[in-house]
Amino acid sequence: MPVLALESSCDETAAAVTDGPLVLAEAVRSQVDLHRRYGGVVPEIASRAHLEAVDALASEVLERSGKRLSDLDGIAVTQGPGLVGALLVALSFAKGLSLAAGLPATGVNHVKAHALAPFLIARTGGTARAPGGGGGPGAPAAPGEPGFPLVALVASGGHTSLFLMEDLLTFRTLGRTLDDAAGEAFDKSAKLMGLGYPGGAVIERMAERGDPEAYRISRPMLRDGLDFSFSGLKTRVADLYRAHGLDRAPDGARELCDLAASFQAAAVEVMAAKLEAAVRATGAKGAVLAGGVAANGALRRAAAAACGRLGVALHVPRPSWCADNAAMIGYLGALQLARGENPLAPESEARTRWPAECPP
Ligand code: KG4
Ligand code: ZN
Repeated sequence: MPVLALESSCDETAAAVTDGPLVLAEAVRSQVDLHRRYGGVVPEIASRAHLEAVDALASEVLERSGKRLSDLDGIAVTQGPGLVGALLVALSFAKGLSLAAGLPATGVNHVKAHALAPFLIARTGGTARAPGGGGGPGAPAAPGEPGFPLVALVASGGHTSLFLMEDLLTFRTLGRTLDDAAGEAFDKSAKLMGLGYPGGAVIERMAERGDPEAYRISRPMLRDGLDFSFSGLKTRVADLYRAHGLDRAPDGARELCDLAASFQAAAVEVMAAKLEAAVRATGAKGAVLAGGVAANGALRRAAAAACGRLGVALHVPRPSWCADNAAMIGYLGALQLARGENPLAPESEARTRWPAECPP
């Protein structure tokens, strides 16, 4: 079932042509350079940039996939959650194209789609591999269809939640962040330390050269249920940065690397511990680690170690599919189209908040 998939929920415009989990062509246009000087995503700038990119990206992936509109079985588009003005760009484009081309369209939940990313299969560049072989450092291979139920940790700049996945479409929320998302904690801490935006990858690079035990940072809510709290971490980073006079430290100084490593160790330990606790509590057969923060090598290793202890498979997307992309939207969208779920109508609205258990 080939579909055209579109994504514009935050600061990446993305399009893909997918056939089930198989990615025939995809393109992502990141807006990071536009938002960097503001230290975060500016909604109006995001909407305008999506508007400038969406048409060209859709045409590009269609051409690269070798498909025409008439070859497609439908359109999948992110309907939420996300920034309303940003969401409306791909949503309106999808509605228009659906009417013009006579193709059914379905609205996809972005956070749920992240959890399907480990099961995508690349066609391009000869890198096709079986679904479930998410890999990543130390991740046990798990060829073939994943065994359900799975526990999924989706950690990104906007969301951090633990889900029980009964199948690829049916999710139950086990826990969520009570304040900042995990990626937001990385981004805010990096900003406080003068490391720029977005902060996740920079912190990871610096942490590789630092001592994770150099600064004492407590692990928020470590043994306290399956909800998360990350806002205290950035406050602690700010306090340590000031107390140790790190604003005077030169770029790349040892002390900055130590602080990055100490922060990352705290964030990673909490996420891996809660993933492990959720698998234990539910008796899940495996775990998924997804979302932008899942690109973090230390988190991937800690999650793999936890799953190793539990004897269950860990499914992790390749790094480019951890970040926002349209391929994951296409995969979930095709499953919905096959069941006639959440058809897009001209009056369908963007769903800025959309809990994973709400239909579809
Ligand atoms: O999924 P994503 O691309 O967008 C959202 O839906 O939010 O996630 C982006 C987030 C940002 O907060 C970014 O700092 C974080 O993922 N991130 C990382 C890493 N790479 C990206 N966090 C930690 N370590 C990384 N290597
Ligand atoms: Zn995302």
